[in-house]
Amino acid sequence: MGKRKNSPCSFFSIDAEIENKVDDLIEKMTLDEKIGQMYQTPYRENGTQEEKDKIYEMIKKGSVGSLFKINDVNTASELQGLAVNESRLGIPLIIANDVIHGCHTAFPIPLAQACSWDMSSIEEAEAVAAREAASTGTHWVFAPMLDVARDPRWGRITEGSGEDTYLGAKIAQARVKGFQRNDWSSNPRVACCPKHLAAYGASEGGRDCNAVDMSERTLREVYLPPFKAAIDAGAGTIMTGYHDFNGVPVSVNKLFLNDILRNEWGFKGIALSDWQTILDLMEYGVTSSLKEAAEQTVNSGQDMDMASEGYLKHLADLVGEGKVSEQIINEAVRRILRVKFWLGLFETPFTNPDEFPGKPLSKEHLDIALDMSRKSIVLLKNQNNTLPLNKNIKSVAVIGPFADNQKDPLGTWNHLADYKDVITVLEAVKVTVSPNTNVYYSRGCDINSKSTDDVINAVETVKKSDAAIVVLGESADMSGEGNCRAYLDLPGKQEYLLNELHKTGTPIILVLMNGRPLSITWAQEHIEAIVEAWHLGLQSGRAISDIIFGDYNPSGKLPVTFPRTVGQIPVYYNDRKIGGAYKVKYFDVEDTPLYPFGYGLSYTSFKYSNLTLSSKTIGDDDELIISIDIENTGIREGDEIVQLYIHDVVASSTRPVKELKGFERINLKPKEKKTIRFTITTDDLKFYNQEMKYIAESGVFELWVGPNSAEGLKEEFCLI
Ligand code: NOJ
Repeated sequence: MGKRKNSPCSFFSIDAEIENKVDDLIEKMTLDEKIGQMYQTPYRENGTQEEKDKIYEMIKKGSVGSLFKINDVNTASELQGLAVNESRLGIPLIIANDVIHGCHTAFPIPLAQACSWDMSSIEEAEAVAAREAASTGTHWVFAPMLDVARDPRWGRITEGSGEDTYLGAKIAQARVKGFQRNDWSSNPRVACCPKHLAAYGASEGGRDCNAVDMSERTLREVYLPPFKAAIDAGAGTIMTGYHDFNGVPVSVNKLFLNDILRNEWGFKGIALSDWQTILDLMEYGVTSSLKEAAEQTVNSGQDMDMASEGYLKHLADLVGEGKVSEQIINEAVRRILRVKFWLGLFETPFTNPDEFPGKPLSKEHLDIALDMSRKSIVLLKNQNNTLPLNKNIKSVAVIGPFADNQKDPLGTWNHLADYKDVITVLEAVKVTVSPNTNVYYSRGCDINSKSTDDVINAVETVKKSDAAIVVLGESADMSGEGNCRAYLDLPGKQEYLLNELHKTGTPIILVLMNGRPLSITWAQEHIEAIVEAWHLGLQSGRAISDIIFGDYNPSGKLPVTFPRTVGQIPVYYNDRKIGGAYKVKYFDVEDTPLYPFGYGLSYTSFKYSNLTLSSKTIGDDDELIISIDIENTGIREGDEIVQLYIHDVVASSTRPVKELKGFERINLKPKEKKTIRFTITTDDLKFYNQEMKYIAESGVFELWVGPNSAEGLKEEFCLI
């Protein structure tokens, strides 16, 4: 029982057989049982017995369809047993969890993974995460987060893929495919849950859950495409956000669920509200009671209520009073049961942890995490080839509050990883350098206190060393949900420490561990080498040490712009072209970001030449082939991420100065040259015109192919 063909799954492989089973079951269900399916509640292992007893009773009564926050397979099976064996219809529970960047094997935070621009590695990372989560009894992962984010003050920028729509959409597809690869041979499967529909990343001022006011053009051109890509890739469910969108909270905003998701995109899966958003409606002041909130939410197309009990307490009365039709309830239940059938939960409700290939923390999974971690690192500066360091260096100091820190590299939303498995930078450096190298350590300062007591010790340590690796940044809880910052510099006395160490004259390698772009302008001006390492998960130290000592040639490129100062925000590469451009600048800061989107260095150098177009014109059904030669002109093998940008020169609505339309990650041996080809069709040139029609307009387009959004060879073509 439960064995199935081992094949990748897309939710949209809906079959008639499932639809019939769903119909039959709905026929048998009472209204209360239907409403039960529409409720999801957290189950806390460390909750009181009273809380647990309440949930047991609810399961047996059929008053809950989904649980989340269960972390172990035995508890999952025990609760599933109550649903399957003791409820009237035996409808299995769907068990969910936030699996944001790995399960037991913690991977880099999603923003870091996006620096790889490597779709197969990202897909692989999510496949591992899903496999490990599934082996603990999870059927539903609350990921990927697809919110385009252009404000690094927003703590949740860490959970997404950065500022760009095109890159975000490609990564969305890779993540959905990975999460739903289901590469074990038995049921139940795993479904993913793209979130938070939509434009949550645009919360005003970068303050989490703040209101969003946005034109429909920006919504459709910038914020929605990653969601559409995820649905097209087969995502089975979706979660709405907490925020208010143009005056209506998204959880009850019909524009998102009914109009766009279902009518335009044909989505057939579950729409889930975020945590207690039904209750939030009263805080918003758009409803005065939970009952009214439940009515608005269900009528706007929300199938499942996460944790508010609004549906549970009031839907039956609302149906009785004719304020909610049973048809709406039936449709919601249909979508929920459809996903449960698709997951194989009816035939195989229980998870057998022995069925899973690649066990948690297996060498195979750790190697995949190491590969992803190395690819997530971005080399921001390398003056006079300070890096890589020679492993035979006589002495090296490893300094800073993150140098020997096991907890913070796990980043926000650590699921089941144990911090004791994190390899620190100090640990990794010790095993990387030659046995004759002296490795010194000093913490230097706290992450975020005013004390400078330890600085002197760090200075003395660095003075006696030939190089210093200084690991600074943000703690795990400085980014993520609700963790927004008004300042983007290094917290506490970290920059003071860096300054004092710099004065010693010893070459400094600054390694950053953080969850968002930081404005490290002083460091960029004074420090020899800067490595952006983010929160990388279990393999942090190894990946960083591999880069510092040259066992891996850095290849990551930024998926988000780094501002010089917080006052430049919002700053992103593809802002709209404006008139009066000379006025749009600040007079007290340079008119460029600290590091542009797409930027990242390597230990080798790449020469771009011979940019050629197959034609100077493109017509409706044509393909334009763009080719360019890339040569590794250095002495080391390396990966380059080649980027294609376009700009519509004259259009009926203003267009971004540049838009990413293609990229390719390539490997080149020293002196090797490759020709890369991109294909553009008129679909890539479309935008929303003044009448909000999605069209391509004839005229001239500029095009660049280069190593980042600020450089590249340029050409032009004409759409006829
Ligand atoms: C709230 C968060 O916004 C969402 O991303 C998460 O999945 C849920 N809580 C459940 O933990």
